[in-house]
Amino acid sequence: MLGTPSVPALLPVYAQLPLVPVSGRGSLLFDGDGNAWLDAYGGHAVAATGHSHPAVVRAISEQAAQLLFYSTALPHPVREALAADLVQRCPQPLSSVFFCNSGAEANENALHLARKQTGRSRIVALEGSFHGRTAATQAVTWGEKFAATARRAGLPLGRMVPFDDLAALQAAIDDQIAAVIVEPVQGMAGARACSVEFLTAARRLCDERGALLIFDEVQCGVGRTGHFTAAESFGVTPDFITLAKGLASGLPIGAMITTASIAATVHTGDLGSTFGGGPVPCAAARATLRVIEDERLLENVRRVSALLCEGALALGPQAIRAVQGRGLLLGLRLARPAADVQKALFARRILTGTAADPSVLRLLPPLSFTTDQASQLLSALAEVLA
Ligand SMILES: Cc1ncc(COP(=O)(O)O)c(C=O)c1O
Repeated sequence: MLGTPSVPALLPVYAQLPLVPVSGRGSLLFDGDGNAWLDAYGGHAVAATGHSHPAVVRAISEQAAQLLFYSTALPHPVREALAADLVQRCPQPLSSVFFCNSGAEANENALHLARKQTGRSRIVALEGSFHGRTAATQAVTWGEKFAATARRAGLPLGRMVPFDDLAALQAAIDDQIAAVIVEPVQGMAGARACSVEFLTAARRLCDERGALLIFDEVQCGVGRTGHFTAAESFGVTPDFITLAKGLASGLPIGAMITTASIAATVHTGDLGSTFGGGPVPCAAARATLRVIEDERLLENVRRVSALLCEGALALGPQAIRAVQGRGLLLGLRLARPAADVQKALFARRILTGTAADPSVLRLLPPLSFTTDQASQLLSALAEVLA
């Protein structure tokens, strides 16, 4: 007999909300009955320009019609143009890009190059971090479940330091450490922003002790903090920035950007990916960058973020104890379980996210979330938390 009908065809690895979206526009999703849902989750920070932005869809269909794919065995102008676009938006001396397909892969390649460059093997990571689901990225992700996977694979575990703890970081970086990997704003932990002091000290300590600094901006990059890179938002320049999620507004892409001096040590065959830098995701990413610029989405992020932070705090400490994060990666620290509030908002057709911290409701809407939509979300929160 072919097939096993009694077993679900998809591995049941995801907790899912009961909504089947059939279309989307901006920060709205539409179900099969034509109901509109306000999306303050953005498909996990991916819908940077909003759902199915016409300029992104056009770029994808034009590129697909022209040439769907050719591998990196041949140069392609859109890949080269996107690399130049990214470098132009990154602080110097970040100057060279490697394209892959996901955030985990971008981090995996940064870890690999950091080890190769320094000749060291250990990595320092932060408690609360999430860096991906490959074995090497799980080794630097916080939590026993991830550490167990890495141990089974025989990989060196990250040396974990408490979040934003400068003294612990100072003690952890010794001459075995190849790199420190940090999310400037931790996503899964509940939109927790590192302090500028911590990141500045991390830069100095890495320089002093011969280690490299990796900013995992998979969730907090591509404009989410109100600057194109979190590095710029915090005023600290790492040796590697990794991007994915919102970069192509929904097509799979990852990018690792590094300095000219590290790039000078990379040779043919050191890194690779069949699909990485394919013309269609690159065209989608170029269109995403253009939309961010043309629609002044960085300014919008700052404006809407301020409104959300102010409005959330105005609900009072009996409802919202604190607001954390930056830009449109915000965590509302609630006085009651975030999962209950998420459910109550869902009943009002509003999508939000939870976090590893059960008291934090996470907001990661499209960068084009409007002030009206922010007000709608705040009104619903006021009702739910009353
Ligand atoms: C900060 C961060 N790094 C890495 C990843 C992994 O990205 P991907 O799922 O594209 O591999 C994620 C995904 O949520 C993330 O939030």
